[in-house]
Amino acid sequence: MQVKVLSAKFDIPDANTLEVAKKHGAYATLDKIFAMQPEEVTEIVKESGLRGRGGAGFPTGLKWTFLPKDTDKPVYLAVNSDESEPATFKDRYILVRDPHLLIEGIIICCYAIRSHAAYIYIRGEYTSQVKVLQAAIDEAYAAGYLGESVAGFDFQLDVTVHRGAGAYICGEETALLESVEGKKGQPRSKPPFPAVEGLYGCPTIINNVQSISSLPFILANGAAAYKAYGTEKSAGTHLFGISGLVKKPGMYELPFGLPILDVLEQVAGGLRDNRTLKGIIPGGSSTPVLTAEEAKTVTLDYESMAAHGTMFGSGGIVVLDDTVDIVKLVENLIHFYHHESCGQCTPCREGLGWMLKIVQKILNYEGTMADIDLLLELCDNIEMKTVCVLSAACTMSTRSYLNKFRSEFEAYIAHSASKHATM
Ligand SMILES: Cc1cc2nc3c(=O)[nH]c(=O)nc-3n(C[C@H](O)[C@H](O)[C@H](O)COP(=O)(O)O)c2cc1C
Ligand code: SF4
Repeated sequence: MQVKVLSAKFDIPDANTLEVAKKHGAYATLDKIFAMQPEEVTEIVKESGLRGRGGAGFPTGLKWTFLPKDTDKPVYLAVNSDESEPATFKDRYILVRDPHLLIEGIIICCYAIRSHAAYIYIRGEYTSQVKVLQAAIDEAYAAGYLGESVAGFDFQLDVTVHRGAGAYICGEETALLESVEGKKGQPRSKPPFPAVEGLYGCPTIINNVQSISSLPFILANGAAAYKAYGTEKSAGTHLFGISGLVKKPGMYELPFGLPILDVLEQVAGGLRDNRTLKGIIPGGSSTPVLTAEEAKTVTLDYESMAAHGTMFGSGGIVVLDDTVDIVKLVENLIHFYHHESCGQCTPCREGLGWMLKIVQKILNYEGTMADIDLLLELCDNIEMKTVCVLSAACTMSTRSYLNKFRSEFEAYIAHSASKHATM
C-alpha cells in the first residue's frame, strides 16, 4: 500500500545534505521550470489536482491565481511549518530527511507566483529540525540555488527561517503573518485575504510544507503522473501520521482513497492486545471523530471524510480502542484549545473555558444530564462567531463525541447521581 513519491529520499542516509540529495535528483526540475513562463508552472500545478496539505485541502494552483495581476508591491511566500495540531507529525519528516525537496518546491512556487522572498515559519519546539533545515538552506545558498541568481538563471530568491515561540494559533495563516511581522500572534479578520493583503500589507501566498514539497515531483513528472495516484478529486499521495493504540504507529506515505480500516490493519499492524475499535480521529484533533461502525465505509480522501460528516484535516489519524475514556479525552481536547486560544474573541476565550469547567465537573462526578445539553448549546453558540476557526476546531470535535458517545457522559452522570443519593 505504501508509496514513495514525497518520501523517495527519506530512507537514504544523509539525504538532508546537498551532495546526497543532488545525487538522487534534487534541483533537477530547475532547468525545466525556468524554460517555462510562470503561468505555465501554475497551470501544471492546477492540472495536477494538488490540494493544500495544511488541513483545508484548498486547491494549491488555484490559490496562486488569486494574487493580483500586475501589482507593484513585492509578493511573498510564507511556508507554514508550524505543525502544532495534536496528532500531526508529517512535515517534520520533510524538514529533517529531505529539506532540499522543500527548498526546490519553494523555488518552483516563488517562480510561479513571481516572488523573490520566502519565509519558512517553523514551530518553536522544532529545535533539531530547524538546525537541519537551516544547514540545508545555507548549503543551497553556497551552491547558488538561492540568492542573486538561482541556479544561474535570471531569478533572485531569498529564503528566511522564522521560528515561532510555541503557540498553536500561529499555524493559522494570518496569525502566522502577524508573528513574522513581529507582532502578537493573533489572527486577522478576513477579508482582505492574504493573497491580496498579506505580509507587510503585500500579496502573500501561504502554503503548507507538504504542499510545497509536492511540487518537484509534479514538475518533474507532469500532472498526469501525480494524478495517477489517489482519486479523481483527491489526487496524489499524503504523509499520514498514524498514532494511538495500534501496533505500528508511524508516518506512512499512501495514495489517497484507501479504506481506512485496511490501512490500520495492513500498514499500522492492527489494534494492540486484540482490543476492539472504539473510534478513529481521522485528521488531527480538530476533526470530528468516526465511530467504529462509520469507519467501515470510510476511505482516506477528502470526499469520503466529508460524506461521513468529518474532515480529512492533516491526515493525522488517531486510533481509539475500547480502553479509551471518551470523557477524559474530551477534557484533554478542550483543555488544549482553551489553552491555545489567542484570547481576542470572547466566545472562544470564555466559552472554551466554560466548556472545560463543565466537562471537569462531569469527570468529578458532579455533573447533571442538563450539562450535556448545555455543552451542546455552547458549541452552537461559539462556532463560527469568532475571528478564526480555532474555536470551531474545538466545538466541532466536542460535539461529535457528545453525539456519538453520549452514553459515556451519561454513565459519569448516573454514577454521580447514585453517589449523591447514598450520601
Ligand atoms: C488554529 C489553526 C492552526 C493551523 N495550523 C496549521 C499548521 O500548523 N500548519 C499548516 O500548514 N496549516 C495550519 N493551519 C491552516 C492554515 O491556516 C492554512 O490554511 C494553511 O497553511 C494553507 O496551506 P495549504 O493551502 O498548503 O494547506 C491552521 C489553521 C488554524 C485555524
Ligand atoms: S477564535 Fe480564538 S484563537 Fe481564533 S481569533 Fe478568536 S480568540 Fe483567537
